[in-house]
Amino acid sequence: MAKRLGIIGTGYVGLVTGACFAEVGHHVICADNNAGKIAMLHAGGIPIYEPGLEELVRRNVAAGRLRFTQSTAEAVDGSEVIFIAVPTPPQPDGSVDLSFIEAVAREIAASLTGYRIIVDKSTVPVKTAEKVSETIRRYAKTKVDFDVVSNPEFLREGFAVDDLMKPDRIVIGTSGPRPVAAMKEIYAPFHAPVIVTDTSSAELIKHAANSFLALKISYINAVAAVCEAAGANVSEVAHGMGMDERIGRRFLNAGIGFGGSCFPKDLAAFIKISSQLGYDFRLLKEVQSINAEQMDRFVSKVRDALWVLRDKRIGVLGLAFKQNTDDVRQSPALELCRRLLGEGALLRVHDPRAMETARPVLPPGPAVEYVEAAQDVPVGCDALVIATEWPEFASLDWAKARRDMVAPLLFDGRNLLDRAAMESQGFIYRGVGR
Ligand code: UGA
Repeated sequence: MAKRLGIIGTGYVGLVTGACFAEVGHHVICADNNAGKIAMLHAGGIPIYEPGLEELVRRNVAAGRLRFTQSTAEAVDGSEVIFIAVPTPPQPDGSVDLSFIEAVAREIAASLTGYRIIVDKSTVPVKTAEKVSETIRRYAKTKVDFDVVSNPEFLREGFAVDDLMKPDRIVIGTSGPRPVAAMKEIYAPFHAPVIVTDTSSAELIKHAANSFLALKISYINAVAAVCEAAGANVSEVAHGMGMDERIGRRFLNAGIGFGGSCFPKDLAAFIKISSQLGYDFRLLKEVQSINAEQMDRFVSKVRDALWVLRDKRIGVLGLAFKQNTDDVRQSPALELCRRLLGEGALLRVHDPRAMETARPVLPPGPAVEYVEAAQDVPVGCDALVIATEWPEFASLDWAKARRDMVAPLLFDGRNLLDRAAMESQGFIYRGVGR
């Protein structure tokens, strides 16, 4: 049965969740206190790039199932279930800044007039649902009934619509049985297995899952280092390992390390909350160290081949933290650019989607040239680096790229290209762990 749902926060999670809920028939109102974002959404614009999202939003706005507002009160008033999807940014000590969640909890409390289910979708440390409950109870004007549910989101940027429409599982964490039926109804059209558990376990599922995926990546990056030393091929090793169903092939791609707005932050937060609870999570600290070393190792590889980086012209293909997104937050590609610039290199950079988002953090200037077409990046370069795994980079005219370059050095930070094919074009090819 269609429900009236409110979503607070129109970032990646909020907007995609709202659009997908509307797509399956619910009536959704998305609130954001950022006037610019709401104005843009009212005008038919989308503040982020996410494949399939624009069409989804347009279709559901036209069908009258998706609306936007600047007022949290309006979203709370007109909805049976309210999802909190506001940012939970990292703080320098690794802990999470929960002030946006707290502020929204107070706003919800101020608008509550009858029973509501308040759902935490943002990634938060264990025990946050309890704090949200306490806050709402403290600030509610009248004594009203409500339930707080932890319902973590597992979508990946770049594949968010697909991940949301076809989830592996739905996690519903609650302290009592009352909200379970409503939550199951909301998710029924998605035909996914549902796990009902307590709020703390639900919160931990998210941190433990993201940290495990990061661990998988650091593991294969460590294996890649051994492969390099042994003359083996990490892609073959990952393939062989991944065929064991207990391991699985996904998230075993060696590269220049993981980044983005989730893994680095969630790892740090999980380590921090574990330590606050009395457990020193050494294993995850090592995952962080391996990830940092991965960048050092890659920069050394470029330096070893070029000998001196000062005044070398290096083409960098990719700025986003991964393919299919314009997001450059904690992007390993940008970190690589900064490291190369720090050693005096001159960069020619390109990304199919992330040039606009990268410009403010990697300003163009005498040492950084933004190149509109990927195919033009190699022109005049001493070396070329693949820093993001955009599939279109594989189909460049590599023979032309080779002719356009001063020297044929190709560093494949994402193991995107075929070594033999590149070598047959005359490139000196260096991948990661192969
Ligand atoms: C991640 C999780 O995959 C989602 O399930 C989760 O919902 C999301 O965080 C979140 O907490 O919101 P996301 O950060 O969008 O999603 O990106 P991923 O596809 O997981 O990639 C993260 C980083 O790992 C990227 O830098 C990517 O290039 C890198 N990566 C990924 C590898 O280096 N190797 C791999 O095999 C896979």
